[in-house]
Amino acid sequence: MHEPVLAGEVVAMLAPHRTGTYVDATVGLGGHAAAILAAGVERLVGIDRDETALAEARQRLAEYGGRVTFVHDDFRHLAAILDAHGAGPVAGILADLGVSSMQLDEADRGFSFRQAGPLDMRMDRSRGLPLAARLAEVDETTLADVIWRYGEERRSRRVARAILAARDRGALTDTAALATEVRRGVGQRGWQRIDPATRTFQALRIWVNDELGAIETFIDAAWTALGPGGRLAIIAFHSLEDRLVKQAFRARAASGAAALLTRRPVVAGPEEQARNPRSRSARLRVAEKVA
Ligand SMILES: C[S@@+](CC[C@H](N)C(=O)[O-])C[C@H]1O[C@@H](n2cnc3c(N)ncnc32)[C@H](O)[C@@H]1O
Repeated sequence: MHEPVLAGEVVAMLAPHRTGTYVDATVGLGGHAAAILAAGVERLVGIDRDETALAEARQRLAEYGGRVTFVHDDFRHLAAILDAHGAGPVAGILADLGVSSMQLDEADRGFSFRQAGPLDMRMDRSRGLPLAARLAEVDETTLADVIWRYGEERRSRRVARAILAARDRGALTDTAALATEVRRGVGQRGWQRIDPATRTFQALRIWVNDELGAIETFIDAAWTALGPGGRLAIIAFHSLEDRLVKQAFRARAASGAAALLTRRPVVAGPEEQARNPRSRSARLRVAEKVA
């Protein structure tokens, strides 16, 4: 069973009153949603852009019946989603960003550099262009820029060149072949703690799903949707996401619209980090809308 990250902290900070409507904007496999519902909140809207994940969440949360509304959509459309479901001012919103363990582990989703899978990487397979279609069109400068900006890969130009050379000779057949080219581009030898393909795979995933654009639009919509005293909790897993969240929260605090409940991000304790490796890079920030 997938274990939600910082679940105790999320419930304590997000839902102190338990009345009103809550939103889990990344319901995923339903781990955080289950904890929030078990704490007694009245109503939860669970959003995910991945239909397979939503099906899992539906099963896991079946015992809560009509208290949960499931929505298959991108959280950047939060305003329209809440309008459509007549939610009114919201008491709390959670986003646990990035990909789920299920998406990473299933080779056929195309996120994994450890297993061979199709060059896809879309969280929502019903829309948008898969990675293969993007790589077929992209030029070297654009690709290098993506790898540099979203992966913070210092050797982005060499990696982009290796990927496109493989594409042009027809060798980019799956994620395993892509990972081989990335490692070749990075050009490091010997044992490394982190696979050199990690940064580029992160970059390509962020690009395919326009993850950072979605976060910016989402934070604006979430802030508008919250009622006075409502709380927005966001868990980020890499510095690019965390920077966006920190800046958005600080700007609202500076204008007096928000109270920061976490001056520094909350991180998982040593026990959780030992039990759940995914929690090691998690950073939770929570802001409250000032009445
Ligand atoms: C880390 S997982 C969430 C896990 C969940 N909190 C749990 O406890 O099971 C992130 C989920 O967010 C979804 N997601 C990522 N970006 C999204 C977006 N822009 N709109 C909607 N869902 C998104 C992914 O499809 C994935 O299922």
